[in-house]
Amino acid sequence: MGAALAKAFEGDIVDGLEPIERASRDEVMALQRERLAWTLKHAYDNVPFYRRAFETAGIHPSDIRDLADLAKVPFTMKTDLRDSYPFGMFAVPREKLARIHGSSGTTGKPIVVGYTQADIDMWANVMARSIRAAGVRPGMMVHVAYGYGLFTGGLGAHYGVEKLGCTVIPMSGGMTERQVQLINDFQPDAIMVTPSYMLAILDGFAKAGLDPRESSLRFGIFGAEPWTNAMRQEIERAFDLDATDIYGLSEVIGPGVAQECVETKDGLHVWEDHFYPEIIDPLTGEVLPEGEKGELVFTSLTKEAFPIIRYRTRDLTRLLPGTARPGMRRMEKVTGRSDDMIVLRGVNVFPTQIEEILLAAEHCSGHYQIELTREGRLDEMTVHAEVRENHDLGADVEAYADALVGRIKNTIGVTARVLLHPTGTIERTVVGKAKRVVDKRPRE
Ligand code: DLL
Repeated sequence: MGAALAKAFEGDIVDGLEPIERASRDEVMALQRERLAWTLKHAYDNVPFYRRAFETAGIHPSDIRDLADLAKVPFTMKTDLRDSYPFGMFAVPREKLARIHGSSGTTGKPIVVGYTQADIDMWANVMARSIRAAGVRPGMMVHVAYGYGLFTGGLGAHYGVEKLGCTVIPMSGGMTERQVQLINDFQPDAIMVTPSYMLAILDGFAKAGLDPRESSLRFGIFGAEPWTNAMRQEIERAFDLDATDIYGLSEVIGPGVAQECVETKDGLHVWEDHFYPEIIDPLTGEVLPEGEKGELVFTSLTKEAFPIIRYRTRDLTRLLPGTARPGMRRMEKVTGRSDDMIVLRGVNVFPTQIEEILLAAEHCSGHYQIELTREGRLDEMTVHAEVRENHDLGADVEAYADALVGRIKNTIGVTARVLLHPTGTIERTVVGKAKRVVDKRPRE
């Protein structure tokens, strides 16, 4: 696949960077052109869904000569993948698959994705690159607390850690006390886990009477759910480590599509030698210029088993020029998914906006949940926030809650109720992604 130019980027890692990480924007784009042509032809020739999509749009892969021409190709939606359950989107015979993963699919059937051995190798490579960009070096020890199984988090991280030449501790999620004990006993240098579960591990340190700042952890690689820079500071301060953001989705490969570099912590570099990003207006589908916020769309450039073309992720962000890796663009931290957006009496609210406000208040921890109810004909939002350890608010609790109501009103423009709960009383998500919104409104 796009073999000619790819050869030019083979070579040693120097100062922690692969040759492609040192390449110019023009060099990366040339590689993308070559690989895009391969991908489009591969998908057209081998996946009936893509052939039909091209034919319906009246185009042929050979019409797409430049990266900008990709805008002519129809989008792929989550429903398209669901409709082809389980194996309808594969571009290789089932016998060629080395592995299958799936997204949890809270409603209906899961999305099934597959990998050839070459896909697994590519994934391990981009994961190793991501982990290196987070500051980890060969020889270090990495504790993986992403869930293992059909979810891509655990195994994706696992193969990357091994590929980088590190020692992996395959903990998976759950059993918080044991996580804390093994971190204390094994002394890993880094941890890979969802940010919300990292806070549960922090609780575990307190329960065990251990000082998290004295732990061996120096690097944390957090993702799989939206989290804010306020949460980064919270975790960095609590554990005295460097926290970076990792992004990915099963449909594109899993974790390792984009990663923040520890030296700049300024958004996530998209590994553009394998994944081509676009930002579109979610309403019109029009491609937006660099810097504008919209829905992230991905096209894989090298995947064999499950090529994905113009996949609408529903994640909202913007693209920015590369910094620490000049040839590859960055995506801003994902603030939320269009699916998670709460429309409250005409105002759009993302859980991350609430997270920022809570963490800006001295007395709130990062544990919170948003409850939506309907009273009469009006939707109501109640923010359940938790008081930070050793911050007994006593009789002033109402005044503190009122102050948060005011801040939410002033910054987001909605009136919410805020209930402050004692430390440790909001349910922790120990496996999987934090559930920030509980919607109790009657279904229409
Ligand atoms: O969550 C893959 C992953 C595992 C990424 C471990 C990072 C670490 P899915 O279960 O398919 O795959 O969910 C993908 O999760 O479309 C986003 O909405 C969300 N997501 C993933 N990473 C981030 C992040 C994995 N860093 C969906 N920030 C994506 C915000 C994220 N949202």
